[in-house]
Amino acid sequence: MITKKMESALNEQINAELWSAYLYLAMSLDAEEKALKGIANWFYIQWLEEQDHARIFQEYLSDIGARVELKEIEGVPQEWDSALEMYRVTLRHEKDVTEMIWNLVRLALKEQDFATLSRLQWFVDEQIEEERNAADLVKYLESAKGDYAALRDIDNKLADREYEKASALK
Ligand code: FEO
Repeated sequence: MITKKMESALNEQINAELWSAYLYLAMSLDAEEKALKGIANWFYIQWLEEQDHARIFQEYLSDIGARVELKEIEGVPQEWDSALEMYRVTLRHEKDVTEMIWNLVRLALKEQDFATLSRLQWFVDEQIEEERNAADLVKYLESAKGDYAALRDIDNKLADREYEKASALK
């Protein structure tokens, strides 16, 4: 049985995941504008993955008969100085998301909500990958700073990224 407090916190997280989706779509569009098609592709897939994350929480709440509340999504920035800046922002944002997930875990433990705790484990693991991917790209782009050919090379590699539906989705 989920408490109102936990239900409300998970609804907030749906909103946070959709905001992340929105942020990465904006980065994808800005990368496209900068003629960085591979990076645009990487962020486009990130936008799809964040929608999956929101959907996982929504499916969970629906499955347990809790109320899903779709809140207003705040606006996001539209432009960044460079691809490196986008990935630095992404890394900082993913660290914040990890903290949000861990706070949900803390709340689930306090409420002795073992079903929610079990659902959250997928996100705890996912955040390790989210931070790692962004951190790696920050390092690659830092080492390519000022080297246009190296940037093009990274961009070409990121064009290969493909979307895979999240394993936690039905
Ligand atoms: Fe939904 Fe990028 O974490």
